[in-house]
Amino acid sequence: MRNQIVNILTEAGKIISSRIHTLKIIDHKSTEVDLVTEVDREVELFLMEKLSALLPNSEFLSEETASEIKEADKLWVMDPIDGTLNFVHGFPMVCISLALHEDGVPTHAYVYNPMINYLFEAQRGKGAKLNGLDIHVSTHTKLIECLLSTGFPYDYPTNKENNLNYFDHFNRRVQGVRRPGSAALDMAFTAAGTFDGFWEWHLKPWDVAAGILLIKEAGGIVTNFDGHPYTFQDDHIVAGNPAIHALMLKEIEKIKITL
Ligand code: IPD
Ligand code: CA
Ligand code: CA
Repeated sequence: MRNQIVNILTEAGKIISSRIHTLKIIDHKSTEVDLVTEVDREVELFLMEKLSALLPNSEFLSEETASEIKEADKLWVMDPIDGTLNFVHGFPMVCISLALHEDGVPTHAYVYNPMINYLFEAQRGKGAKLNGLDIHVSTHTKLIECLLSTGFPYDYPTNKENNLNYFDHFNRRVQGVRRPGSAALDMAFTAAGTFDGFWEWHLKPWDVAAGILLIKEAGGIVTNFDGHPYTFQDDHIVAGNPAIHALMLKEIEKIKITL
């Protein structure tokens, strides 16, 4: 099944890469900066058609047309384009994020950036890979050695929990904090040890489902800000190698006190 999924992702990736530098039809969702294009919808429908044929009776939890949280024996959790704002502007940090949950357990994860041809993948119990090579979370143990990543929610201007305090706090204690604009890629690069840790607010299941399995299979930890295993109901997520994840949780406790 893995090879068939990768073929489907490769075809879907061609739709994205052939359209990233063209004009798109843009619709606005929750806010003026929460965008969707006709390409997001086209890629989602393409993936649904191909993955349904591959796994009959499977269901979908996906951003554009099936966003109700549900349970199913075989559930694809997917974001056809993670990094839509990047896609609209032609910035190549975009990906397809795809996970398969079987009986509620994540079994397959894929994060594919067709612009740079990076395919991150994990299968439960079999480790994580980038373009066929094994990947692991980083080995850093001190914050000052770290590169972290995060993102800002689309309701940034109106939401008090807009992540700026967290960004400022971490930015003063690490080598750098990046905000590339695709949570799925942020998590995939955390699995690969490029980023030592990642945190964010208000993410949806399709943003994180693949990243969670990738990070766990690469030896990392994913929780909510209270240190409990992350669930799709949680409103905050923090991940990293075990040492850095623990340090990030401690810092998050300090930030909470100052808010
Ligand atoms: C967004 C990206 C971004 C994150 C936003 C997400 P989209 O997904 O993952 O990094 O900060 O919260 O909504 O809209 O590009 O699919
Ligand atoms: Ca997304
Ligand atoms: Ca999306």
